[in-house]
Amino acid sequence: AARRIPLVCGNFKLNGSRSMLEGIAKTLNGASLSSNVQVGVAPSAVHLDLMRQKLRSEVMVGAQDCWTKGSGAFTGETSADMLVDLGLEFSIVGHSERREKGETSAEIGEKAAYATSKGLMVIGCIGEKLEHRESGKTMSVITEQMQGYLAALKEEEMWSDMVLAYEPVWAIGTGKTASPEQAQEVHGELRDWLKTNISEKVAAETRILYGGSVTEKNCDELIKKEDIDGFLVGGASLKPEFVQICQAPG
Ligand code: G3P
Repeated sequence: AARRIPLVCGNFKLNGSRSMLEGIAKTLNGASLSSNVQVGVAPSAVHLDLMRQKLRSEVMVGAQDCWTKGSGAFTGETSADMLVDLGLEFSIVGHSERREKGETSAEIGEKAAYATSKGLMVIGCIGEKLEHRESGKTMSVITEQMQGYLAALKEEEMWSDMVLAYEPVWAIGTGKTASPEQAQEVHGELRDWLKTNISEKVAAETRILYGGSVTEKNCDELIKKEDIDGFLVGGASLKPEFVQICQAPG
């Protein structure tokens, strides 16, 4: 992980109120965060502007999802253009909680490509369900999900704003973290996949985050693994302990 800048990002999901988020901003603004680690938070769309205004500029603010196009008749969606207009830095795409609602890998790839074309960093999620892991299909599911990104991010340069987040579905919100070895195995295979299917450069430079029940208790062991470049944190990102997770990569 030596050449890659670690990234720790909080995904607030459908949580928070103005006062709660102002409290989180206060905690993060007062925390000592290393300049060698990037930190970001992804609140709900309605709280994006508030968080960008309250947080110090070193902490990135991004969306939990964004659409494949900039504007038009797409009720309920948020575009990368709107995120850029608010001064935001990134968007998550392809979270399993959205894939579960029917989003396809191809559509998620288009979202990633459109957002990177607007200058946003994109955190593209992938991950298998328990039944896939138990039947030995982990990598086949993940490579199918990766095909969506591969098809849409056609030029090698488009990958420079791309971050991957490996989030095994069975570990999300369950308190059942993947062991450092389980996570490293998938991260290593993903890096090999990037090398074979894109380039050596993209494989060496793309950050791969781990997500799924990351806490202040397990982050130190996970971050030691060679191919784990940071975390995408759900539940624990709403708590003061998030600061300790941000400090784990040191
Ligand atoms: O995107 C982060 C996430 O899905 C993990 O959630 O609550 O298990 O940390 P959690």
